[in-house]
Amino acid sequence: MKHIIEARNLSFSYTEDSSKILDSINLKIEKGSITAFMGLSGCGKSTLAFCFCGIIPKGLSGTMEGSVFIEENDIRELSLPSLSQKIAMVFQDVDNQLFLPTVEAEIAFALENLCFSYDEIESIVERILDTFKIRHLRYKNPSRLSGGEKHLVAIASVLSLDPQIIILDEVLSELDGENRKLIIDTVKALQELEKTIIIIDHNIENLMIADTIFFMKEGKIEERIEVDEHELLQHKLCSFFL
Ligand SMILES: Nc1ncnc2c1ncn2[C@@H]1O[C@H](COP(=O)(O)OP(=O)(O)OP(=O)(O)O)[C@@H](O)[C@H]1O
Ligand SMILES: [Mg+2]
Repeated sequence: MKHIIEARNLSFSYTEDSSKILDSINLKIEKGSITAFMGLSGCGKSTLAFCFCGIIPKGLSGTMEGSVFIEENDIRELSLPSLSQKIAMVFQDVDNQLFLPTVEAEIAFALENLCFSYDEIESIVERILDTFKIRHLRYKNPSRLSGGEKHLVAIASVLSLDPQIIILDEVLSELDGENRKLIIDTVKALQELEKTIIIIDHNIENLMIADTIFFMKEGKIEERIEVDEHELLQHKLCSFFL
């Protein structure tokens, strides 16, 4: 399968005098795959995701070495509007993502910024409200929703631009049974549409939908396991969690 993301000798520190949070990472993520990242808190999973979607170096300061490529393009050379149509991330801290007065406005926001027509925006918002079964939340203020509802709205709003790659940073663990199933089914449906999904999670059950799992330790990729390598995966998960 062809890869869609590549990190080449990627290192990053948030400040000049601090140690490397990401340390010489080399990896490829295949187009159309569900790829998971796991590792202990603080090992650099979210920081790596920020590098994939261009928040590093475009939005967060620090020292970045090496490169990230999306479809062979160095992300430094892609504009923010172009990046936002290729890759979207649902943040671990969802309150940082939702800031508009209604759910409808959240879903329409990226489309309005990219100057979609009124009719296009209306039709995409209607479709997304139905797909995520959140029509009843349409005029509610996101800040007043439950944690699970906020995550659903955050996922719904990043999907409005129909990006090629979607990163879910510790999202599945935040959802209850029914909403978790809805998102897992959505992830599988997106994979059928050849979307690439990146999941960061601690829960083994959530990781089992991945094709490939990268284990991270102290800013490095310690191991890459294909999920069909059952014995190796079980051994690895047992040694990780026990
Ligand atoms: N904005 C920042 N400025 C300085 N240091 C940061 C910043 N964000 C994260 N860090 C530090 O970088 C390291 C890696 O953080 P990161 O959030 O990437 O880890 P993580 O693997 O996602 O952890 P978790 O599982 O808790 O979400 C941590 O030591 C963290 O304190
Ligand atoms: Mg994190």
